[in-house]
Amino acid sequence: MTTPASDFRSDTVTKPTAKMRRAMAEAEVGDDVYGEDPTVRRLEERTAEVLGHEAALFVPTGSMGNQLSLRVHARSGTEVILEGKSHIFHYEMAGMAALSGLLPRPIDAPRGRMTAEQVAAWIRPEAVYYLPRTSVLALENTHNFAGGAVMPRPVIDPLLALAKEKGLATHLDGARLWNAAAALGVPEASLAAGFDSVMTCFSKGLRAPVGSAVAGSKAFIAEARRVRKLFGGGMRQAGVIAAAALVALEDERARLPEDHARAKKLAEGLAGIRGLRIDPADVETNILMIFLEGDWGDSAGVVAKLQSRGVLAGAAGPSSFRMVTHADVGDPDVERALRAFEGIRAGR
Ligand SMILES: Cc1ncc(COP(=O)(O)O)c(C=O)c1O
Repeated sequence: MTTPASDFRSDTVTKPTAKMRRAMAEAEVGDDVYGEDPTVRRLEERTAEVLGHEAALFVPTGSMGNQLSLRVHARSGTEVILEGKSHIFHYEMAGMAALSGLLPRPIDAPRGRMTAEQVAAWIRPEAVYYLPRTSVLALENTHNFAGGAVMPRPVIDPLLALAKEKGLATHLDGARLWNAAAALGVPEASLAAGFDSVMTCFSKGLRAPVGSAVAGSKAFIAEARRVRKLFGGGMRQAGVIAAAALVALEDERARLPEDHARAKKLAEGLAGIRGLRIDPADVETNILMIFLEGDWGDSAGVVAKLQSRGVLAGAAGPSSFRMVTHADVGDPDVERALRAFEGIRAGR
């Protein structure tokens, strides 16, 4: 039997647990487009409670949750301020433009943490009638491309205060809000507070096979439900997948600090290898961004060499790549990854 690969490409590669599979098999279901799926309803109620918002809506993917939130908040032809390396800007296929006629205004910020000063400079003055109106401010916590960087309340608060003062809607891409809360040791609701909408994913570090949710006011969720249908996301006996998401929500959050500790250990090991640039202090959650220096060659080549040693990572740019810890990689996988890097370095 061949040893399975140590897969650090993403926390989305996790397989559902036995308890999730059982819950899926036994789920009580109904037609959710008719609002008749009791398991989906339970998941939505529990998600709203955990996030501290009035209501929530189950959606198939995080991208759909982000995109339908923007669609609800903003009129076509208006501008959305977001961080320059955010998932919504980079990895959702220009969805806001294609689906909702929205113009993104990306602002680059170290570790994905925009400041109120940066954002204020891009809020369009109402008096200049030929400029697009700014409609939404979107944040990301944790910030994927910034290496799982956490946005604590002192970073969030001035941004939300500015948005409120200027009449902008606020959206949080909290695909990994669970990791942010675990890293800070605070309840998720404390990081979701004050946003008009919050998207979160069950299918990443929490190991559910499918599913995300958006949360917000009852009025927001009523509109979001309509847009979910418009975008083709009305699901029928969706309790089958909601059941696994419920197990994820109840059972998996407490485990996340293990992933964070392993990411730190991996970062500390990599930082000691010549030509790999990563500061372990920057690894706050489960994502590592590693930069190549000197004679390593390009990231695609390194990723291929790692793969031949049974270690999977993802190229993030010509000289950078990403590694992510999750429930399906343990300490032996971390050791294997470090040995693989050392072997490549030594030309063995
Ligand atoms: C920060 C962030 N937001 C949104 C998404 C989108 O989630 P999905 O792949 O379910 O569409 C991802 C996916 O990796 C993500 O990392």
